[in-house]
Amino acid sequence: MKNILSMADLTKDEILNIIHKAQDLKEQGISSIDRKATVANLFFENSTRTKCSFEMAERKLGLDILPFETNTSSVQKGETLYDTCKTLESIGVEALIIRHSENEYYEPLKSLNIPVINGGDGSGQHPTQSLLDIMTIYEEYGYFSGLKVLISGDIKNSRVARSNADALTKLGAEVMFSAPDQWKEQISDIPYVNIDDVINEIDVCMLLRVQNERHDKGQSYSKSEYHVGYGLTKERYEQLKDSAIVMHPAPVNRGVEIDTNLVESPKSRIFRQMENGVFVRMACIQEVLNHKEEKVKCHL
Ligand code: CP
Repeated sequence: MKNILSMADLTKDEILNIIHKAQDLKEQGISSIDRKATVANLFFENSTRTKCSFEMAERKLGLDILPFETNTSSVQKGETLYDTCKTLESIGVEALIIRHSENEYYEPLKSLNIPVINGGDGSGQHPTQSLLDIMTIYEEYGYFSGLKVLISGDIKNSRVARSNADALTKLGAEVMFSAPDQWKEQISDIPYVNIDDVINEIDVCMLLRVQNERHDKGQSYSKSEYHVGYGLTKERYEQLKDSAIVMHPAPVNRGVEIDTNLVESPKSRIFRQMENGVFVRMACIQEVLNHKEEKVKCHL
């Protein structure tokens, strides 16, 4: 794979290949990459998990990380994203990890000679989050076919919902959405359901963060009404199947998407998701750097 930009671009086999590599890295210990390479992480939107776990993955692989801070870069003088990335390519950076608020910011970057891994584009896609979610589900069940996955929350503004709907459907899971009317958007043919009608039959209860930063100014909602209507309350938790798991990409708005006491409850896999993120990101970086290496060899 040259780039990892959208789950819509990945085949079922490509997804499973990354998951298996990430599992090997987790089970067999860390192996650094065979050669030195320098990468840069360009985060134009705030991040804790994605930025830090990419950096952890890069360190574990023995890569050099070129520091890049958006607020002290020439982006502030008006330099375009393409020119910024082309500059980094010109000075020897071999892969870019980018998060940006613009949907599909990566389109003009496809002509670069170095790979790009998308760390999240606006409300578009978040492929490495989806891959770590898939790894977490696979660790639990070992299969996807027929698994019932409920994704509840701010579907309209969620890149996690889009990426997971694409990928989990491709893998054979039955995906359902639950959302307040103002945050509903039709994605593929995923049905909207009432959370209370399915809570006792789902295998995965995936909660989404309310994306306050993407809402129109002046748009407001009641946190307590949202929690009662669409969140994981103690009562709903009690109705889950014994084998069901609870997921959330985080950061969590405690008491809104999930009761604060359930964040570290026995069915919660929220911190396991973060742990798996490091191995998935190592596998993704290896994938794009190895692809680049093979392409260079073909041209020798
Ligand atoms: N899940 C996720 O993308 O978290 P960050 O915004 O902290 O990276």
